[in-house]
Amino acid sequence: QVDRAIRPQMLDEYIGQPIVREQMEIFIQAARQRSEPLDHTLIFGPPGLGKTTLANIVANEMGADIKTTSGPVLERAGDLAALLTNLEDGDVLFIDEIHRLSPAIEEVLYPAMEDYQLDIMIGEGPAARSIKIEIPPFTLVGATTRAGLLTSPLRDRFGIVQRLEFYDVQSLTTIVGRSASKMGVVLDESGCFEVARRSRGTPRIANRLLRRVRDVAQVGGEKVVGEKVARRALDMLSVDSQGFDHLDRRMLLTMIEKFDGRPVGLDSIAAAVGEDKDTIEDVIEPFLIQQGFVIRTPRGRQVTKRAYEHFNYQLPSEDFK
Ligand code: ADE
Repeated sequence: QVDRAIRPQMLDEYIGQPIVREQMEIFIQAARQRSEPLDHTLIFGPPGLGKTTLANIVANEMGADIKTTSGPVLERAGDLAALLTNLEDGDVLFIDEIHRLSPAIEEVLYPAMEDYQLDIMIGEGPAARSIKIEIPPFTLVGATTRAGLLTSPLRDRFGIVQRLEFYDVQSLTTIVGRSASKMGVVLDESGCFEVARRSRGTPRIANRLLRRVRDVAQVGGEKVVGEKVARRALDMLSVDSQGFDHLDRRMLLTMIEKFDGRPVGLDSIAAAVGEDKDTIEDVIEPFLIQQGFVIRTPRGRQVTKRAYEHFNYQLPSEDFK
């Protein structure tokens, strides 16, 4: 099964993110009543929480087509101009990793977003002039891991800004159950819960783990997957009781063992863990912070008491918080 086959197509199949869902229902309904495209929408949040899924749902709900691209793919202004001039009335243009657009391309985007116009420079030197091209009314949906990565002129041009949060275990349990039935796996309630609980609050991870649980069950000849089979599969994948993977554990253990639990800067953590800063900031630490294992202080990141307890380590001193 490809990922696309198990993704929700409409808002009413979208589980969790209640605030986002409630707001989007209203904004979409209002835009439809006015026969206008939805306002430009920025979706941000850690990887795997459903930014692309939500962009596709917006298009489906609006009865529109979606064209998808990403920040790093658009190299020259002409690449974006080609996309924009090929849009049809009401289409959704989805730009993933929108924080990675070059400044020249952002410049093309501003008038397109505000006035559905392209300002194209032709010629050079004294003969240069700019021509305006009308483009169809459209909805730009941009996705990024952190809203703070966007320049403020770009951020300001989105009328709707949605932040995706990590999913609670209950929502994830429902998602795992649905994915399992779409994949033809018989997973009982305790099996769904076990996968959900160890998925870092992230549907993409839950669905990935579910596939591996299915493998273990299939090869082991298990017809119904319960907690026991799920546990065996997840233990084999080195996903621990908190859902932490080896990168999570490496970061926490580095902060405990190499930095003795003191506040430490992102650069030092990146060097010691051997991952780049962006991976730590966008992928690893958001969940550790959300779960209360790491805090951000003015002097850097610091592990909490919980992290020590998770690894059964002695706290370094009495005044350690
Ligand atoms: N699959 C992945 N994310 C989902 C969500 N939010 N709701 C339902 N199914 C999903």
